[in-house]
Amino acid sequence: MQRLLEWIDARFPLSATWKAHLSEYYAPKNFNFWYYFGSLALLVLVIQIVTGIFLTMHYKPDANHAFASVEYIMRDVPYGWLIRYAHSTGASAFFIVVYLHMFRALLYGSHRKPRELIWIFGVLIYLALMAEAFFGYLLPWGQMSYWGAQVIVNLFAAIPIIGEDLSIWIRGDYVVSDATLNRFFAFHVIALPLVLLGLVAAHIVALHEVGSNNPDGVEIKKKKDGQGRPLDGIPFHPYYTVKDILGVVVFLIVFTAILFFAPEMGGYFLEANNFIPADPLKTPEHIAPVWYFTPYYAILRAVPPMFGSQFPGVLAMGVAVLIFFFLPWLDRSPVKSIRYRGPKYKIALTLFVIAFIGLGILGILPATSLYTWIARVLTVIYFAFFLLMPWYTRYDSHKPEPERVTAK
Ligand code: HEM
Repeated sequence: MQRLLEWIDARFPLSATWKAHLSEYYAPKNFNFWYYFGSLALLVLVIQIVTGIFLTMHYKPDANHAFASVEYIMRDVPYGWLIRYAHSTGASAFFIVVYLHMFRALLYGSHRKPRELIWIFGVLIYLALMAEAFFGYLLPWGQMSYWGAQVIVNLFAAIPIIGEDLSIWIRGDYVVSDATLNRFFAFHVIALPLVLLGLVAAHIVALHEVGSNNPDGVEIKKKKDGQGRPLDGIPFHPYYTVKDILGVVVFLIVFTAILFFAPEMGGYFLEANNFIPADPLKTPEHIAPVWYFTPYYAILRAVPPMFGSQFPGVLAMGVAVLIFFFLPWLDRSPVKSIRYRGPKYKIALTLFVIAFIGLGILGILPATSLYTWIARVLTVIYFAFFLLMPWYTRYDSHKPEPERVTAK
């Protein structure tokens, strides 16, 4: 084995890579619960790719056969139901994990200098993930797939001047049709997975360049021993490989429990209307996107049309996502971690979480006038979190950041 390794190392930096990124890669010793979600996002990415490959073997991207091919996977393909449910549950799990992963950054200031690029790659991943989920949702060609895609593509038509042509260009037709299904399939199975994999690689390369942040927001590279090892660091392998495996086990228990006992999650992971084949002549009474899009959908509906155009809502929805890019520069606090921040940031973050979850719930419910007004208030809070951030983070009180991490 030793000689084989030497042979490989003379031709490929195997041991050097193992050392640089695992056995001699020093991570802060005080990682907590919130640090599980990066590795879990990697796990879900692998689950989605592997189950996706097997689904593609039996799925037919054709408006006349797509719905039936999914039913065939569910009923006739050996273990097809397992693969399909793993993939559909995986989509929701991906967003749960990624939302918790992003929240961790807001808790500990992980988006701040010197990790701005890790954050920017992260937001790009988030955008790609949303596109991936949107394209994938059309593939079963159920009522919700069809009408959901119709609604979302029509939003582009609200863009002034180019909107109409743009929406036809996206669909490849005047309505969602076989041409749309074919191109969404191409985006879902190859284009976006490639983009996602590339972005995740860049995300981790950037992370390993600067090193991880931690719950104290202290830069461990500032205090090193005689051999240049961070005093508050421990080798990623074996310490964090073991810790992450614990996370994987707990995650898989929850994931499989949902997969086996509640794969539709009462209509939140797979909607009832999507078990009805797409019918271009029959609009479902109530069209709502899957739960992970509903905060943005609620923002879209909360903003009133102007001169009969839906554009202001579409713009607000777009800005609500893109504004995440600017976070590293909006945040002016002298400390990174919430542990040392003052009450203003704590209140702002709490209100933001309430607004995000509240909008998520409202996006599922019908837009009655009461709900629309609540959504408007929450939309204002959502944007205020970002737009007022330079002010409330600069004038917030703070405790002094410690020199070293506080864990024993
Ligand atoms: C496919 C999706 C993603 C994967 C596989 C992924 C993977 C990872 C991994 C493995 C880490 C290191 C472990 C950890 O800190 O938990 C990490 C760190 C980080 N990620 Fe992600 N990530 C993803 C999406 C995102 C998104 C959407 C954002 C933000 C918009 C983001 C922002 C960050 C930040 C700021 C860090 C550094 C955290 C710190 O050092 O405290 N990531 N990511």
